[in-house]
Amino acid sequence: MDDIEGKITRNDEVAPGYHLLKIKLSRPMDPFVPGQFVMVRIPGKDVFLRRPFSIYDYRRPVLTLMYKVVGKGTEILSKAGKNEKVFVLCPLGKGFDLQKRQEYVILGGGIGIAGVHALIHRLGTRSSVFFGCTAKEELALIKDIGAPPASVSTLDGSCGFHGTVVELLSEHLAMFRGKDIEVFACGPAAMLKALRGVLEKDTIPCQVLLEERMACGLGLCFGCVTKTVDEAEPYKRVCKEGPVFDLWKICL
Ligand SMILES: Cc1cc2nc3c(=O)[nH]c(=O)nc-3n(C[C@H](O)[C@H](O)[C@H](O)COP(=O)(O)OP(=O)(O)OC[C@H]3O[C@@H](n4cnc5c(N)ncnc54)[C@H](O)[C@@H]3O)c2cc1C
Ligand code: FES
Repeated sequence: MDDIEGKITRNDEVAPGYHLLKIKLSRPMDPFVPGQFVMVRIPGKDVFLRRPFSIYDYRRPVLTLMYKVVGKGTEILSKAGKNEKVFVLCPLGKGFDLQKRQEYVILGGGIGIAGVHALIHRLGTRSSVFFGCTAKEELALIKDIGAPPASVSTLDGSCGFHGTVVELLSEHLAMFRGKDIEVFACGPAAMLKALRGVLEKDTIPCQVLLEERMACGLGLCFGCVTKTVDEAEPYKRVCKEGPVFDLWKICL
């Protein structure tokens, strides 16, 4: 883990309210595992705490993040221009644990796609990707996910399956029956809860990336804990023991 200075090279709005941020790092980042994240110092003096973002892509020396504007920090970040200086603590947390499986199923809900983007590229054609969003405008978030193409759901029915990404997956689950598969997912808590409902009867292995609010990002403040089924130590720090957890071991 390192605190690296970087310069913004691009900060483009790729869909309404969603940005792709490219930062040229002044030093190489340590090798990362998909699912790990960085803590970004927001330019200016108005936001004290750094904000966590998943590593979307890293090709030396350029780190790419994708973010949704939801509050003060991301609003300020969205206005940052080319050559603006940023500091990035990276790479942090525990990423996806890649066991050898016959097939992988990856789910991204909305901006949750940023958390599984590096994983999709790492697994390539061995994975089936399911992406759910509100409306077709957000399909720009999966523009660079070529083959295999993602199966898409929209809540307003403007593209692909009309409904949630978990409902879409449940329509396709039969095709994975009898195969040694693992599911990876990132998205809102409600999506992860629904996913558990769909997978429950089959108890398919599943790892999920939790996007809990964070303060230090380093395991020091216990501000990001999530409850697990571990009776001895139920509360785990999302920034240290996560952000990736076994779906069957957390309490949603
Ligand atoms: C490990 C990890 C990886 C993440 N990866 C990404 C990513 O790749 N792209 C991305 O856009 N976001 C990601 N997030 C979420 C991102 O960190 C928050 O959206 C961001 O910190 C919000 O900052 P803000 O100052 O704009 O919002 P704030 O002003 O802090 O909050 C605005 C609103 O968003 C809500 N909010 C803030 N943080 C979170 C959160 N973590 N989960 C749910 N609601 C929240 C608040 O309750 C509030 O309603 C990730 C979070 C974690 C923990
Ligand atoms: S954010 Fe401080 S311990 Fe996780």
